[in-house]
Amino acid sequence: MALVRRVNNSFGFVLNTIHCKCIVNIKGLKRESDIMRYSNLAAKKSVIIKISEVGHIEHLKKFCEYYAKIVNVFPYNTIDNNRFVLMECSSQKDVEALRNIAVCKADPEYAHSVTPFFLYKPRVKLSNQNTLNKDSYEYHSNFVTPNLNKINQSLKKIQSVSNQMIFLYDTLRITELNIRLRFYTATQISYYLSQLFVNLSVVPFGSSVNGFGQIGCDLDLLCKTNIPSNDTSGWKKFLFLTQIVPFTDRVEQKHFLDVIGTIIKTCMPGVTDVKKILEARVPIIKFRNLNTNMQCDLCSTNMTALHMSELLYLYGQLDWRVKPLVFTIRKWARSMNLTKENPGQWITNFSLTLLILFYLQTKHILPSLSSIKIFRDKSNTIDNFDWFLKWKNSVSNNDESLSKLLFEFFEYYCFFDFKTHALCLRDGITKLKKDASPLYIYNPFNPSLNVSKNVTLSELLRLVGHFQRASQIMLNSTEQDTLVKLINFDSNSTINGFNRKNKLELISEKFIPNVTNTNNLQKIEKNIIK
Ligand code: CTP
Ligand code: MG
Repeated sequence: MALVRRVNNSFGFVLNTIHCKCIVNIKGLKRESDIMRYSNLAAKKSVIIKISEVGHIEHLKKFCEYYAKIVNVFPYNTIDNNRFVLMECSSQKDVEALRNIAVCKADPEYAHSVTPFFLYKPRVKLSNQNTLNKDSYEYHSNFVTPNLNKINQSLKKIQSVSNQMIFLYDTLRITELNIRLRFYTATQISYYLSQLFVNLSVVPFGSSVNGFGQIGCDLDLLCKTNIPSNDTSGWKKFLFLTQIVPFTDRVEQKHFLDVIGTIIKTCMPGVTDVKKILEARVPIIKFRNLNTNMQCDLCSTNMTALHMSELLYLYGQLDWRVKPLVFTIRKWARSMNLTKENPGQWITNFSLTLLILFYLQTKHILPSLSSIKIFRDKSNTIDNFDWFLKWKNSVSNNDESLSKLLFEFFEYYCFFDFKTHALCLRDGITKLKKDASPLYIYNPFNPSLNVSKNVTLSELLRLVGHFQRASQIMLNSTEQDTLVKLINFDSNSTINGFNRKNKLELISEKFIPNVTNTNNLQKIEKNIIK
């Protein structure tokens, strides 16, 4: 009886439950910690099953429903064309039930370990009835950035620049399945490492969780120890014997990551291309998880980065225009080759996002960090949620269109005094630079650090040149053409087409103190503007 009831239960198998939609919903304001908790739990209630045929999905679902309550099913293809299904169960007990019915088939000649992934191999050839239902599933294979030609064609059909920007945001942002796979990947590593350190977990940060993630973005992960700090319920005489995890000292961090890198490489299923980058400013382990299609960067603990993710997430939630504006500018910058896949002497997506958020602070669309009470709180926890709702209703009365904000963003940074001034998001104002770094953005959580220290003068010049060019394009294009022209502009011709007099002024007045000699200017021009 019980089995029959489960099979007939129509609660299961809804592709997008309201619950899941809250992860990607930009209209309602949601706490980041709630989303993290929800997504972590969803990952723990999920299993990933490899299949060979799309037509097996329906059969697999019915099979699993005999033993477990299934609430969501997400089929996907990996880049190397393997087929998987991420199946979310109603509880962790359901996951256990599926584990209990799975069997191991292994060659006794070799030693095998059981992985958290499953393989579905129906023994009989499935009838047509079972294989035909594949169209009823939203099949996900979009792990790579959508084709630019297709984006262009769609953009040309949209009349206003603002709507084009919203379209870009909808097209480029990471999907719900992608977010689930990110949390699943983190949970999987947490599971393996928790065998060494019971209370150690691995959590995603950066663009995977801050609301600014684009299809194909890397998965930033960090290690975190979970110790309930104010646990008064236990017996004070009976304590856990604890041991310090080697996180704080840089040399210890390197040793720790070295070991973790080896464990990941040796023990974790589906992991490939493990690289230990231990000499970098922030030591990391890079690897690829083939089963979840994720390019991962794992660092040891980095609480500032975690708070930064929370802050960016909240800024993205405070005004509906923030994300479309950030996505459009990031896409434009990538198309102009201003940002690149690998880090280097150019601006990163993260620094570019801070430029945009700062500009929105100057427009009173976003508050400064110091005016947000919660971040003054030493615990750095987000518990003053009501503040945001009040702030949202009272302060933000700027209703400029997305298109206007985009144009004014380019203009704002064309005239910005980069030579002497720095951006301070903590106070929402510009401040004097602390050193000669060409681009200076105070780290909102650690004012002694410049977030964009890596950016060279030549890259900053290229950036400003492109800001000027972009504002010219916006002035000289029809509404319908604007975004296509912006993101398809031949980046090599940009600076050549840029007025030489402006270029020299730009160098002399904005960036290089005490340069008066024209010969010098020409030399500089030759060296740094290519
Ligand atoms: N971060 C930081 N300070 C920096 C660089 C990065 O605090 N100087 C933190 C930010 O929280 C950032 C995260 O590390 O979001 C990850 O950095 P990165 O991967 O470079 O940026 P993302 O925001 O993840 O953007 P992308 O999609 O390009 O990966
Ligand atoms: Mg990242």
